Amino acid sequence: MKHLISTADLSRAEAVTLLDTAQQMADTQSRQIRKLPALIGKTVVNLFFEDSTRTRISFEAAAKRLSADVINFSARGSSVSKGESLKDTALTLQAMGADLVVVRSYASGAAYQLAHAGWIEQPIVNAGDGTHQHPTQALLDAFTLRRHLGQGAGSGLDGLHVVIVGDVLHSRVARANVHLLTTLGARVTLVSPPALVPVGVETWPCDVSYDLDTTLAQGPDAVMMLRVQRERMVGGGFFPSQSEYSRRYGLDADRIARLPQHTIVMHPGPMNRGLEISTDAADSPRSVIVEQVSNGVSVRMAVLYHLLAGSYSPED
Ligand code: CP
Repeated sequence: MKHLISTADLSRAEAVTLLDTAQQMADTQSRQIRKLPALIGKTVVNLFFEDSTRTRISFEAAAKRLSADVINFSARGSSVSKGESLKDTALTLQAMGADLVVVRSYASGAAYQLAHAGWIEQPIVNAGDGTHQHPTQALLDAFTLRRHLGQGAGSGLDGLHVVIVGDVLHSRVARANVHLLTTLGARVTLVSPPALVPVGVETWPCDVSYDLDTTLAQGPDAVMMLRVQRERMVGGGFFPSQSEYSRRYGLDADRIARLPQHTIVMHPGPMNRGLEISTDAADSPRSVIVEQVSNGVSVRMAVLYHLLAGSYSPED
């Protein structure tokens, strides 16, 4: 693995190895001294053209816990606002000695372009590109599912049923998860209003439903709620009203009460509380939303480690 651009590029063996390494990284985080010397002398650049809280901070924490130097670059306040191109920005980062570039962009395909245009040679990690992919989010979701519902190290997610609900059309998290979770053996059902189902979804390896209550009645092992991405809904018209959306597609305490006892509730964040998820659902004992954020650090440590140092051994 030279880059991490899309979960569609990961084989089952590669995904399981990353999850196993993430577990080893998580184990190191309960030690008195959490910092590992693995990436001393390496420089990780976080190149963020689009806003982020969890992903940017998590990559920074992951790199620092592996003793790498970190340069944080956000488009706001940089020469990107003066019209500098992605290519020139990349060449500048290479000249400054970046060993690996983490990139988030509003443009689908930006990470792929950085990795394959021949501008820079360093590994590229996609931290979310437009509506296309968010591979480390899917890996942390798979890691969280395996911790709660899986068979442990070396295993996938065989036999689990994961329901992903909401604004699939604009969701890179949904696309990344459909590929990764099915590669790992899970069954995925997408539930969405018709206007928020992408064209071509019938070619994805999952089921599609417009009816949340019927799907929840199947007793899924996990329900993953998606953020309604209002900033990408220029012109509106995707659903009649926010209250109608919540009534038909929102997760609340009533719907949680009808799920099996073991079912977990997930959300990649940031949440629109009161729209796709009620506060009592988000904060319920079934919710693993905060744990997803902590797991993100271990998963990103594993990704950085594999791309910069090779396979991990607990003696490292
Ligand atoms: N889940 C996620 O990507 O969150 P941020 O946009 O805060 O990074």
